[in-house]
Amino acid sequence: MSKKIFSGVQPTGNLHLGNYLGAIKNFVELNNDKENDCIFCVVDLHAITVKQNPKELKNNIRETVATFVASGIDPAKSIIFNQSKVTAHSEAAWILSCTARTGWLSRMTQFKEKAGKDKEKASVGLYSYPVLMAADILLYDSTHVPVGDDQKQHLELCRDIAQKFNNDFGVEDFFKVPEPLIQKEFSRIMSLKDGLKKMSKSELSDLSRINLTDDTDQIINKIKKAKTDPLPMPTNKEELDQRPEAKNLIGIYSSLTDIKIEKIINEFSGKNFSEFKENLAQVTVDKLQPISTEIKKLLSEESFLDQILLEGAEKADKIATNKIKKIHEIMGF
Ligand code: TYM
Repeated sequence: MSKKIFSGVQPTGNLHLGNYLGAIKNFVELNNDKENDCIFCVVDLHAITVKQNPKELKNNIRETVATFVASGIDPAKSIIFNQSKVTAHSEAAWILSCTARTGWLSRMTQFKEKAGKDKEKASVGLYSYPVLMAADILLYDSTHVPVGDDQKQHLELCRDIAQKFNNDFGVEDFFKVPEPLIQKEFSRIMSLKDGLKKMSKSELSDLSRINLTDDTDQIINKIKKAKTDPLPMPTNKEELDQRPEAKNLIGIYSSLTDIKIEKIINEFSGKNFSEFKENLAQVTVDKLQPISTEIKKLLSEESFLDQILLEGAEKADKIATNKIKKIHEIMGF
């Protein structure tokens, strides 16, 4: 049976290696499988849960599309659009916010992390953001959702919302309960400065992440400066549990090359980190340089990018509006 794939990425700038290895690389593989119907959404409504500069947001929306296409997503095969252009997302989010329970939302760890100490000052949108994410997924009868590990809890919430809605209104199977597609190993790429913290766009230090638009020198420099522990390279896989920075760097190498962890450990066992880092920098540059060159080229073709979004929105709107009509009938509107 064909899979219906849906996923989203926030256009908040600085897309990084974590976004690529945790999500976008997977999107490309799913796009390449003829059996799948894929929708990849630039989630601009999610981006405004924290303050955005409108001009920068517009550029970041285009940059996200450019990144999708430069990474290998084919707009002729997959639907690419931005969320704000399909109004059904906002409407479904409201309706589903009446199904979701506040107790469920208050357990979301990402809200706690993002809101920080001053929860009272966080936007209502930041709190209800997982409901909008559920609306995104459920409007398209998505069966599979490829994401990084940090989105797992939000997907569980989406499943709960779908099941509760179906039960409350006696409409078995109306919302499909989607399956997460999360890589088994290294589904969470960590900061280059702290192996216990997620690589993130919001981290202040740019040295903590490799941006998809970094040039060769920046990549080499960031990997050279990446934190390691004082020991030489690990000699077996078990050691990695106690050595988060080594684990992360070896994981990045493995994800970029598809070489098994054990093989990488054997090759570098007991050597200095500097030798490993030189190799890691090389494979990172080899993988990312073609993508970043293509992103830069596409960014100069604004009308091409806008056209992709326009055509994508038209296709997405048809599917989503049809689902909203059925929701209206169920609700008694
Ligand atoms: P966002 O924009 O924060 O991240 C986009 C994707 O990148 C993954 N990711 C990572 N994976 C591994 N290691 C990391 N350090 C890392 N950082 C980010 C994320 O898991 C994600 O897959 N709420 C979502 C966007 C969204 C969405 C959706 C996703 C909105 N609606 C519907 C799926 C389905 C978000 O903020 O992702």
